[in-house]
Amino acid sequence: METIYKRRSIRKYQTKDVAQEDVEKILKAGMNAPSAKNNEPWNFIVVQDKNCLWELSEIKKYALMLKEAPCCIICIAKPNTEFWQQDMGACMQNMMLEATSLGLGTCWLGIKPDGEDEKKIRTRFEIPTDYHVFSLMALGYPNEEKSVNNKFDVTRIHHEKW
Ligand SMILES: Cc1cc2nc3c(=O)[nH]c(=O)nc-3n(C[C@H](O)[C@H](O)[C@H](O)COP(=O)(O)O)c2cc1C
Repeated sequence: METIYKRRSIRKYQTKDVAQEDVEKILKAGMNAPSAKNNEPWNFIVVQDKNCLWELSEIKKYALMLKEAPCCIICIAKPNTEFWQQDMGACMQNMMLEATSLGLGTCWLGIKPDGEDEKKIRTRFEIPTDYHVFSLMALGYPNEEKSVNNKFDVTRIHHEKW
């Protein structure tokens, strides 16, 4: 699947808005990820307000691209099984691949569980305390060209035993 190799972390965005229809397609892709016991821990806050995006860029380190990106999806999880982080990883990857296939760029912005950034985001966006802020996903039309990924490394592959 070409989209896997095309997806790159985009840190420069055009100001052009993302259509609601495309945001929905991306969320739909995320919600169709596999999850342990089919528990679907995901919830999302779609942030498109410029002031809120700016605030997020000030709260989260290494998220300066949110000052220009037209959209950010806050990915939130109910830790309802011990596999919730794995579920959320699958969800994120589905969303990034769908966005790439729509000609959009993304950047996964990690949030440490129970860290200061999570606390600030939880308070600012009124997220209940029994949910975790798993990550942010910057979203928009790319304003930078990136080469196709090629990270294949045969030395990482073991057969039958390590
Ligand atoms: C869990 C996780 C956390 C990340 N956090 C950040 C971040 O805070 N800021 C950022 O600019 N990129 C972040 N990234 C993106 C990585 O830097 C990027 O995926 C990596 O350098 C490989 O580049 P590529 O995505 O273009 O293949 C994160 C990626 C993951 C999976």
